Parts: sequence; C-alpha cells; structure tokens
Amino acid sequence: MRERLAADFERFGRAMPRDPAAHVRETYGIDLTARYLGFDLPHPIGKGSGQLSLNEDQLDTDREAGLAFVVLKTVIAEDEAGARSMGAWAIHETRMKVERRGSDGRSGWTVTWKGRGWDRPFEDYLGLVRMGGDLTRAGALVAVPSVKYHLPRLGEAFRSGEYRYTTGRIMEAWGPGEVPLEKDFSPTLAGDPLADERERILRWLREVPGEIRQAAAGAPLRLAIKLMNARFDDEFQRAMLAAVRDADALVCFNRLWDAEAGVAYGGWDLSERNLRVLHSARAAGARFPPLVGTGNVCSGRLALDYARAGCESVELHTFFQLPLAEYPAAEGSRTQRALHALLFHPEDGMVAGMLELERAGVLHRRAGELRFLDLCGPETP
Ligand SMILES: Cc1cc2nc3c(=O)[nH]c(=O)nc-3n(C[C@H](O)[C@H](O)[C@H](O)COP(=O)(O)O)c2cc1C
Repeated sequence: MRERLAADFERFGRAMPRDPAAHVRETYGIDLTARYLGFDLPHPIGKGSGQLSLNEDQLDTDREAGLAFVVLKTVIAEDEAGARSMGAWAIHETRMKVERRGSDGRSGWTVTWKGRGWDRPFEDYLGLVRMGGDLTRAGALVAVPSVKYHLPRLGEAFRSGEYRYTTGRIMEAWGPGEVPLEKDFSPTLAGDPLADERERILRWLREVPGEIRQAAAGAPLRLAIKLMNARFDDEFQRAMLAAVRDADALVCFNRLWDAEAGVAYGGWDLSERNLRVLHSARAAGARFPPLVGTGNVCSGRLALDYARAGCESVELHTFFQLPLAEYPAAEGSRTQRALHALLFHPEDGMVAGMLELERAGVLHRRAGELRFLDLCGPETP
C-alpha cells in the first residue's frame, strides 16, 4: 500500500485522476464519503467563504479540480431600500499577504488582510448564487451562499426587513430545491465593540437562526451557522456552541482576532483552539447538529483530526493560497495541487493517515472498507 501511495503521489503530481475519490476507493478500499449540510460529498475537502469564491471563474476552476463544495464570499444583508446595518463590513480591500505565523516552534501559514464582506452590488452576488444553484443541482459542486445579517444590541429588535429581503432574493436566485445557506459570524465581528458583551453574543446565536427561517417563510432552507472565535475563554466558546438553536450544521470556528495588529489570523493557534474546544465540549456530553471544521487544515492529517473531533467535512481558505513552490505537485490549479497534497501525500495525506489509523486499531474496515465518516462518531476516551 505504501509503495502504491508513493507511486500515486508521484504520478498525480503531474496530473490528478478525473475522480480522485473513486480512485482512492478502488485502490485502497477507503471510502472518503463526507457530508456538508445534508449533502453527500465524494470527499471532505471544501473551500471556506472568502476571496477565493468571488466569481464564476473561481467556481469553474474548483469544479474542474473536483473540490467537494465551495462557500461563496459573505454578502452583507440589505433591505428593500438597499439599507445595510452591517455596511461597515462591505469595504473594498484587495491586498492580501500570505505569511508565516507560528508558536511553540511550529510555523504555519496565515493570510493577513484588512478586508471584510462582499463589496460589489447585491445583484452581482445573486448572479453567482444562480450559478451556485445550477452547479449544485447538476451534481458538479455544492456551492453555498453566505450572509452577514443585522445583529442587534441587547434590548434592540432584529431588523427583519434585512433578513426577509436578502434571504428571499438569495432563495429566488438559487432556484428550485432546498437552499443551503451559511450565516457568518466573522473574526472582525469578534474584534468589534458590538461583540464585547457575552450575553449579546449568546442571544444572537439563540435567535438568528429563527430570524433566518422566518425570513424564508417556510421555503426549504438548510442553515449552517459559522461561529467566530470570540475574545473570551474556552468555556464561553463551549457556551456559544450550546446556545445555537435550530441550525442544520455548525462550522467551527472562524479565525482568531489579533487585537494588537487589528487583523484576523490562522495557523496552528487556530487549529489547536478549535480542536481543543470541540473535544472538550463533546467529552462533556454535549450534542450538536452535524459539525464542519475550519482552521489551519494544511494536510490530510489535520482534516482527520477535525473528523475525530466530530467534523463531517472541512472548509479551507489559507491552504488554497500558498506560494506555488509550497505544493508538491508540479502542474495544475492551486485547488488541484492542494487536493493532491491533502489526499495523496505519503506521510501527511488523508490516505496515509487513514491507513495509519487502521494499523493503530482506531479505524476498522467494514465490508472491506475504511470509512471517513466512521471517524466522526462520539468522543472516545
Ligand atoms: C482573506 C480571507 C477572507 C475571508 N473571508 C471570509 C468571509 O467573507 N466569510 C467567512 O465566513 N469566512 C471568511 N474567511 C474565513 C475562511 O473561510 C476560513 O474559515 C478561515 O480562514 C479558516 O480556515 P483556514 O485556516 O484554512 O484559512 C476568510 C479568510 C481569509 C483568509
């Protein structure tokens, strides 16, 4: 198996197979089937919302590369008159810096960027949503809109007009079928005075899903809540997880906030915190809607670590932005090169990691196959 994996790694570095998940199943008896918001996926690797899902070309490249799902850039909600209470998040900023960031002697990658949400007209976003609906229905790629809606202070009411208008237009643009939607609580929000009060954040998590469902007016909607890393301790992070009502999935957790530099960041600090909070919440017996991991997934092994913390798929951003020389593949789009490393790397890839978990007695074959989703079961001591 190890020799075969080394040969595949070498060969696929020049050209990936047309259906990598089918190849993994046939060659290694590994079923990578994963899930995001109730959609069955051929493997767990998707793209998180951000600067890499802004236009049709990016979606086309990802479809061609065989990515399992893509979350579109977060749009800032507006009401019928075009008013946006979260308008401060619709700022234009193009410069991104991909740089090293480390602690404990481990150096990871982070993207330093001062931008926020979608900064073009809402109508343009709806065009992208239309394409997302078509791609999803065609079974080519699950593509998911993402929204940041009004968040009130305590004692203040939700601006339902924003929720209604934005949700309605997105659902209409998406077209027939159940619409997947991600609601983003971002790191810039965590760093904003609006998120200074714990009780205010917990109220958002309790009430925002209901506001969105009410805005959908009974039309079929699958709702993922993407949680931020608040500026409080692990215990509060667990309280946030427990506070969410009526979501179909939780995405855990968006980037950390560096108050001194005034920027969001990722790397090993992010994955360590996310995994620690998820493990401790599950070990304490907490039950959640299906989980999706995000944060520093820079290898197949990290994706497996998130799976063992309960995550049925992962959404990446930074790993799709590395300098080309950092990917072992010599050919292909960044998405293809990233998938090549994540799946087939002979030490750190997902195939290698699952075979190792089998050898260690953590994962067992059923009907001759190792199954990715078997890793996501309840916490084991
Ligand atoms: C430049 C940049 C822009 C991002 N924009 C958004 C966004 O608009 N909405 C959102 O939900 N997450 C956004 N994210 C967060 C990513 O989707 C992802 O969850 C996070 O970066 C952690 O994954 P990573 O460590 O693989 O980058 C952004 C991340 C980066 C680096």
